[in-house]
Amino acid sequence: MKKKILGLLACTALAASIAVGVSAEDDVITVGFAQVGHESDWRTASTKSAQDVFSADNGYDLQFVDCDNDSAVQLEAVRNFIEQDVDYIIIDPIVATGWDTVLTECEEAGIPVIVIDRTIDDSDKYVAWVGSDFLKEGIACGEWLKAYAEAKGIEEINALVIEGTNGSSAQIGRTDGFKQVADENGWTILDSQDGDFTQAGGQEVMESFIKSYEGQFNVVIAQNDNEAYGAQDAMKAAGISYGPEGDVVLVSFDGNKPAMEALQAGELTAVFECNPLAAPAVEEVIKQLEAGETPEKTQYITEGWYANEDVVTSITIDGNEEPVTQMTDEVLAGRAY
Ligand code: AHR
Repeated sequence: MKKKILGLLACTALAASIAVGVSAEDDVITVGFAQVGHESDWRTASTKSAQDVFSADNGYDLQFVDCDNDSAVQLEAVRNFIEQDVDYIIIDPIVATGWDTVLTECEEAGIPVIVIDRTIDDSDKYVAWVGSDFLKEGIACGEWLKAYAEAKGIEEINALVIEGTNGSSAQIGRTDGFKQVADENGWTILDSQDGDFTQAGGQEVMESFIKSYEGQFNVVIAQNDNEAYGAQDAMKAAGISYGPEGDVVLVSFDGNKPAMEALQAGELTAVFECNPLAAPAVEEVIKQLEAGETPEKTQYITEGWYANEDVVTSITIDGNEEPVTQMTDEVLAGRAY
């Protein structure tokens, strides 16, 4: 194991003497990764990305913990990494709060923490965060829906939202972003419930929505692909049609390949991408720290917006025009996950 970088202030001088990318056994870099769980296709892609990048062949010893969506398990995993004296800790925080104490412990132990994907709201004791702009994803969804409704002559929006794990920054950002556009346009959000980012959760929430609101809704916002698959199953069973040819506009977030295939097939109306491939950027952060450099603290991953049809080709977010890409064979072939 490499000599631990002793606190962020001390890291510059110490790390400058350490070479990067070497493979001798005592130069192996130990990385502890407290992953959220295995609730979705997105999560599987995120885990694989970390395992590919932080492999033994690349000079790493990856200590991976699947926290199964349990915040107590995640805090314990981080404390175990401190006990093991790992070189770096990666955290994908299940929820946004409750972090300051354990991050203080990491800081006192001199272990740099890199946060990925979801954000931490109650502490800044980490060296860098790499992830998605969830608020922007929610706004993009709303702006696309506004333009789509105008193009299709849909006069009223009565939406149901299947939220992700409550308290996660992904759920908070997507919910707030969509609501912001809904409020600006006087849309009705009939209901918004936690589907826990799982297919079973999405199905269960959609079944209960159908019981309460059948015949009253024309838009379903699923906050990830897997929840959208669950919603499809529930609507199919109830004889409700969805997608560009159906009665209900169905959108999801993430955009893993199976969802993009479903989008092209007309099983989804639009998809707002969330990129799970943070690990290469995390490795860059580690290389910078090893070289005694200061990484950028906030690093957004690029992501795009996709639709089945080409009726909306761009949307404007914060004054910037951004493309909406129609899903075609060619676009699908270029998808990395
Ligand atoms: O934090 C990212 C979210 O978590 C993804 O949208 C979802 O699929 C995952 O479980």
